[in-house]
Amino acid sequence: MKVISTEYSQVLGAKVAERLGTGVVDVRFSRFPDGEQYLRTGPLDGKTVIIGSVVNSHALIQLLLLIDACSKSENILVVPYMGYARQDRQFNEGEPLSARAVAGALARGVSRVITVNIHDERVLSHFRIPAVNVTLGYDVGRELKKSLTDPFIVAPDDGARYFAEQVALAGKWDMDHLDKTRVSGDTVTIEPKNLDIKNRDVVIVDDIISTGGTIATAASMMYREGAKTIHAACVHGVFTGGAYTHLKSAGIRDITCSDTIERAFSTTSAAGVIAEAVQE
Ligand code: R5P
Repeated sequence: MKVISTEYSQVLGAKVAERLGTGVVDVRFSRFPDGEQYLRTGPLDGKTVIIGSVVNSHALIQLLLLIDACSKSENILVVPYMGYARQDRQFNEGEPLSARAVAGALARGVSRVITVNIHDERVLSHFRIPAVNVTLGYDVGRELKKSLTDPFIVAPDDGARYFAEQVALAGKWDMDHLDKTRVSGDTVTIEPKNLDIKNRDVVIVDDIISTGGTIATAASMMYREGAKTIHAACVHGVFTGGAYTHLKSAGIRDITCSDTIERAFSTTSAAGVIAEAVQE
């Protein structure tokens, strides 16, 4: 078994290979003169773990090409961050079910799929092959333990509640959740709620930080309620439109994410949970 990854998951791919006690396949990526992507893999094994986060359309095409290049091998696909998963319903007539379209395309040529903290586990059924989702809640909690002794963990909405519970479990910390309503792509409103956070270190945790709007709105509310410091932790650090600076200017002390999207501040690695799932 060998591990092969797209340009977007190179570091994570190498870590997973290390955990599995195997090597990585060298891949050369380039472009044709018209901009189309090209890649060429080194020698493959009979069994391959293909790793690629779908962080944008370029990454999606690259992953599809990589799967096709591995067509002679038996493949397990790992999608650490699955972009397009948030359009998992037809909210308005005429819209695509993007999660279904992407899952269907990725499933061709692989025998099973592993995702990490996918936005909604119902998306797994669109792969139409065995698919499991693993979670980094406990790992994120373990990472927080290194710098905080007794934080209060807050989920900004009901969707992030289970993840926040897992984070809190790592240190047996207090936790609660807020109720968020999305107004537009980068604006949310959060219902006022009395939390017992006066003079406490608070960590707002979410599966994704995209524009940072959710965390910034929750943070300003909790500073008003007397929080001493506010920190943010997520699995998938999308950080679009200057989100990192936006959060720092909103008074967020530390911002951490995992390496499902490789960032300078990816302090939690998904390699362990992925390697375990591969071996199951
Ligand atoms: C949405 O349901 C997700 O769980 C996140 O809360 C959302 O993606 C965060 O987006 P933003 O950072 O743009 O507020």
